Amino acid sequence: MSTRIAALAFAGLCGCAQPPVREAAPAAAPAPPLAPVNIAHRGASAYAPEHTLPAYRLALEMGADYVEQDLQLTRDGRLVCLHDTTLERTTDVEEVFPDRAVTIETADGPRRVWPVAAFTLDEVKRLDAGSWFDAEFAGVRVPTLQEAIDLVQGEAGLYMETKDPETYDALGLAMEAELVRVLAANGLDAAATRTATPVFVQSFSAASLRRMRDLAGDTYPLVQLVGGPGTQGLLTDDGLAEVAGYADGVGPAFPMLLADPSRALAVRAAGLELHPYTVRAGQVPEPFDDATDLMVHLFDELGATGVFTDNPDLFPPAR
Ligand code: G3P
Ligand code: CA
Repeated sequence: MSTRIAALAFAGLCGCAQPPVREAAPAAAPAPPLAPVNIAHRGASAYAPEHTLPAYRLALEMGADYVEQDLQLTRDGRLVCLHDTTLERTTDVEEVFPDRAVTIETADGPRRVWPVAAFTLDEVKRLDAGSWFDAEFAGVRVPTLQEAIDLVQGEAGLYMETKDPETYDALGLAMEAELVRVLAANGLDAAATRTATPVFVQSFSAASLRRMRDLAGDTYPLVQLVGGPGTQGLLTDDGLAEVAGYADGVGPAFPMLLADPSRALAVRAAGLELHPYTVRAGQVPEPFDDATDLMVHLFDELGATGVFTDNPDLFPPAR
């Protein structure tokens, strides 16, 4: 335990007044890890189009410990790295396949979308996933998980998210089984391989994480994301006890921890890793000076053991 955390923990235990946002929660924290991990969110996505090989490559160059992949499944069952379940935000699918949209109802009215699951991998590979971000990246493609592994393996860790698995369950596509298959095909089911390339699997879906545990046992540490619909209650003491039964860590939206710092130390007291998301240089709340200052607070005052950031270059130096 750092001197600073120890002093703040003692202040909490002695019954001092409720601390302001920049102070530690009023409880004793377990010792933080020697080196919290730098998780490049969608790659170095502040500087290159998210979930592309240039963004992943840049994350490695910036010293990320882990490179994040959000996973979707194509119609022919291939895992690709893409945040959304649909293709139109980050590719030119609207120009390449104008007749393949489906119309969905949203709170703002009907909207035309191009679901990943309606396209084969060959079709997805025809799309430009870089121009929307900057002309410099024109022609960059949506990577498969295999391509991401080929780039990252041996250089950093992989931090994969089973994204919207229920969407794929409904279509008869088993995301977790394919993920376990791909990891094993790359030797990542062997502990020796994971020494060079550690692996985390994360999800907002508890059912998905439980399925991963059923399929792969304790091979891959699992992280329950918190902040999406239906997950807010997981930071309560009861919620954390439940999460500890099937996962190894929690990834809350960082504003939840600023709003109630006691939840940060409750996560650590439950023996869980704490990997809040997502620190972005352009969205740093008061009273923090910048993204680095915010990350220092998450580590030193709240006991976070890693952080998701679009700006892996702004990760604080070892202290
Ligand atoms: O996985 C952590 C964070 O990435 C969750 O939010 O929507 O960016 O996947 P999202
Ligand atoms: Ca994610």
